[in-house]
Amino acid sequence: MPDRSAASELAERAMRSVLLSLSHRKSLGRLATKVPVTRRMVGRFVAGETMEEALPAIERLHDQGMRTTVDVLGESVTAEVDARAACADYLALLDALPARGLDRNVSLKPSQMGAKIDEALARENIGAVVAKAIETGAFVRIDMEDHRYTDRTLDLWRELRPADRSNGADVGVVIQAALRRSEQDVEAIVAEGGRIRLCKGAYKEPESVAFQDKAEVDEAYERLMLRLLRSGTYPALATHDVRIIKRAIEVATAEGIGRDAFEFQMLYGVRRDLQDELCAAGWRVRVYVPFGGQWYPYFMRRLAERPANVSFLLRNLWRERGRA
Ligand code: FDA
Repeated sequence: MPDRSAASELAERAMRSVLLSLSHRKSLGRLATKVPVTRRMVGRFVAGETMEEALPAIERLHDQGMRTTVDVLGESVTAEVDARAACADYLALLDALPARGLDRNVSLKPSQMGAKIDEALARENIGAVVAKAIETGAFVRIDMEDHRYTDRTLDLWRELRPADRSNGADVGVVIQAALRRSEQDVEAIVAEGGRIRLCKGAYKEPESVAFQDKAEVDEAYERLMLRLLRSGTYPALATHDVRIIKRAIEVATAEGIGRDAFEFQMLYGVRRDLQDELCAAGWRVRVYVPFGGQWYPYFMRRLAERPANVSFLLRNLWRERGRA
């Protein structure tokens, strides 16, 4: 019989797998958006349904000394008109952020920009956002989706990254420690001087391409993190894992890696205590702030990351049964 911790890890892995499968169910997403208690809980992870609602939340983070990157929620878009609308939302965002004196830093997904429909459409849309970023000195991070998009996303990054980055405009990528290929990708991107956000990986992936054991993913994260910290390429360490964060601080301090040589990144509404603590201690912290009506798959990934989030949601749903 497996011991208690092995059994609970198995149960967690099974729960994660179910939630990530449900995250693709569009019909469930349409239903979820109508239930008031789900919407209330979503508010913990999402800064609003519109840019006007999100901007004050971004301003509050700035007032607390945090940096931000803003994400207009949306992914796996199947209609060209929606991909073009997403592009227009980002163009409006890149006007609104500097107008309010906020960080010119956005994060977007290829499948939101049309990559699932047609590669050329995604290139055109992301290209338009990057052109605006070049004009306004902004930073565009291309988020990494599941492994079917990895090569295409890295190709897009290589193609669209501006040659002249003197006004601060740049395009960065994301590497997922869970993927077996990531060590090679990190080496290639570092050699090109590219800016990487390192995360563990939020998608359900087959064993052939990704580590399945949490311990293996954590180990890979730490290995890649050390490589990036020592690379001088201004990496973004995207994690809420206290043990890993402590290790980064320990290595940076011991090796004289400056506080301006990398940044920590965390998700809006996740471990706010840790965000405050790091910021107060003088470390750079950037918060990933999502907003928009298409929050369902993003929200499901957040539930999958922490089973306690699911029991909290179920308790509230039970308490409010019949009221919706
Ligand atoms: P881990 O899952 O081990 O969690 C460590 C601790 O953090 C937990 O014990 C808990 O306390 C807390 N925690 C983590 N998630 C939580 C949650 N949802 N609710 C409450 N507490 C939580 N992924 C991807 O595939 N592509 C991408 O482009 C990105 N981009 C990205 C940007 C940023 C800024 C962040 C922080 C993360 C991503 N991710 C991502 C998501 C990432 O891959 C990963 O799924 C989550 O960050 C959770 O992993 P942790 O590193 O936090 O560790």
